[in-house]
This record gives sequence, structure tokens and C-alpha cells, in this order.
Amino acid sequence: MIIYIKDNYNEVCALAADLIELQIKHKPSSILGLATGASPVGVYDALIEKHKQGMSFKHVTTFNLDEYVGISGDHKNSYKYFMQTNLFDHIDIHYDKTHIPCGMAIPAKEECKRYDDSISAKGGIDLQLLGLGQNGHIGFNEPNLEFANGTHLVALDDSTKSANSKYFAVDEHVPSQAITMGIKTIMKAKKILLIATGSSKAEAVKGMIEGNISPKLPASVLQLHQDVVVILDQEAASQLKSKY
Ligand code: F6R
Repeated sequence: MIIYIKDNYNEVCALAADLIELQIKHKPSSILGLATGASPVGVYDALIEKHKQGMSFKHVTTFNLDEYVGISGDHKNSYKYFMQTNLFDHIDIHYDKTHIPCGMAIPAKEECKRYDDSISAKGGIDLQLLGLGQNGHIGFNEPNLEFANGTHLVALDDSTKSANSKYFAVDEHVPSQAITMGIKTIMKAKKILLIATGSSKAEAVKGMIEGNISPKLPASVLQLHQDVVVILDQEAASQLKSKY
């Protein structure tokens, strides 16, 4: 695990975007795994800036980590809508090369298998971008799930639901289930790039880097991956014991 500690969120995002740019320069037809949530927004802004300066995503394929169940792709809180508005609408990626699990698929189990199969058919993910949940989740792999899961249906933890509720109107139903790439799917990515910022992530960051490898803190599994880069700000790194 390579760990970078930057001064603030903007610097974290700038470095993450530089590493994604390097990946695409190295392999223009890269398969990227992408995340949603607050953390990657600044990374996507930096990538949009790079696109304005000439960087092309024409040959890139993307697979997102997850999608809420019961929400269609045109709902403003769907992760499909998030990706369109925060990234895809602003770069030259081909929409048919972008993939997000379908939250309306019935049965969801078939959609999960279809999703894993299509990742494999493309040759696997070259670089997976991850955020980190306050409870240590990656994707929506909540604590105490098996590491052996491929893409699967999950019930969201109360802490995750409450963290996500800020995006929903007061009278709106906050989804309680999602389809997520499993830990097994994530661990198959050739490279992993995780970003975490703010003091609310400090405890999960400490467990991920310095704790025991255990499903109790899903991100701790990343200690077993050969090629992980973690980019933190000072606050997220504040509980680490060792100097990095
Ligand atoms: C999002 C995802 C989640 C988030 C995590 C952190 O696709 O899979 O694991 O990365 O919940 O969310 P933020 O960045 O909003 O703190």
C-alpha cells in the first residue's frame, strides 16, 4: 500500500486525477472502476479540466461500483444520474462504454451476475477508484459481509442510510438496498486508488491501514492487494500511528 497524505481535499483530488490521467495515457482503452458520493466529485472536476486541456476519454470504458435498488437511472439521486451530471456529460466518453448496475432489474441477482460477467468480458478493471465509508465500507460492502462476494444485493447499514439521506428530500424514501460490486470483484482490479478526507473518516482509515484484516472493517482487505494507492488529507490521516 502506498500512502500519500496531502494538505487538503483539493490536493487529494488533484493527485488522484493525475494518477487516473497517467493510467489513461499508459492505456487509452483503460477499464476504469468508478465511485460516487462526495469524495470523487473533486476528482471528476479535475478530470473535466484535463479534458478541456485535451485529454480524451474516447476509448475508456467505465464500471461503477454500485447503484441503489428501486431507483431508476433518471432519478436525480440515482448513481447513474450522478455520473452523468458530475462526469460523463462533460467529457468525450461514449455512453455505451459506461456501465452502472441497474437498480430496477428484477431479479436483482441476475443483474449482479450480468454485471460481473460484463466486467470479465472486458478483461477486468485496470484501475478502481474508491471512497471509504465511515464504517469502513468500500462500494456498499458493509461490515461483516463475506470477502468472497462478487457483485451482490446488500441491505444498507443505518449509518450509511443516514449519511446518504442528506441527498434526499425530507419526505423522500431513502433506499435501504443497493447492488454493489463485492469485495471479490473489487480485489480483482489491477490497481486500486482510494481517497478519503475529513475527520469523520479517520477511524476507518486507521482500521484500513493499521488494523486487523477483517470483514468487521471491509476496507482492511485492501492490505492484501498488490497495488493500492491511498490518498488522504491531514484530517483523515490524523489517527494513524505510523508516519507515512
Ligand atoms: C460510492 C460508494 C461508497 C462511498 C462511501 C464514501 O459509490 O461506493 O463506498 O465511496 O460511502 O462516501 P462519501 O465519499 O460520500 O463520503
